[in-house]
Amino acid sequence: MLVTLEGVDGSGKTTCWRALQESAVVPQGTTFTREPTDSWYGDAVRDSIADDNADPLAELFLYTADHAAHITNTVTPALDRGDLVVSDRYSDSRYAYQGATLAGRFERPMRFVQGIHEPWTRPPDVTLYFDIDPETGAKRSGAANKFETAAYLEQVSDNYERLIEAERERFVRIDASQSRETVKATVLDAVETLL
Ligand code: TYD
Repeated sequence: MLVTLEGVDGSGKTTCWRALQESAVVPQGTTFTREPTDSWYGDAVRDSIADDNADPLAELFLYTADHAAHITNTVTPALDRGDLVVSDRYSDSRYAYQGATLAGRFERPMRFVQGIHEPWTRPPDVTLYFDIDPETGAKRSGAANKFETAAYLEQVSDNYERLIEAERERFVRIDASQSRETVKATVLDAVETLL
């Protein structure tokens, strides 16, 4: 089973991804992974994030290349072994974030990004969505990179809502506005129930 964690910056999902790694809720041998990945593909993505003038379409393809390598090198082998895979960000991050960066460029940007993935991606079985208002997310994340402004995260958040609307059965909504400890406990509970 492939479980992904999604949400706008500052939603606290990475903290929960770490908490899951240390918890007894997940079976031994669970593969914990993330996008952008720890690889040269991921390094290329991080270079692009750091470049305020990066071309958004080129950036989409860097993220997507990283996703392809992630599936081939990490996700598929782990699923083939029968392992649980828990990924901090995955394909929905591209649909929501690049769906927003490409807004002026295509008529239906999110559809365009999904179309590029569909022939080969491995969709998640379950997605924990860390729900927080974009303003709070931007504040919490400290607006450290070009994606972290409240106005931009607002669009990203709207895109996530559209994804949830289209596939309600895949998403588990986590109220990420609660205290860190409460969010952690909610996530551990949710994963325990899932398994
Ligand atoms: P992430 O590593 O989750 O952020 P952080 O550095 O706060 O831990 O992701 C880096 C940034 O890249 C984040 O702002 C979200 C963005 N992103 C996309 O725009 N598209 C994607 O496909 C992914 C995976 C991330």
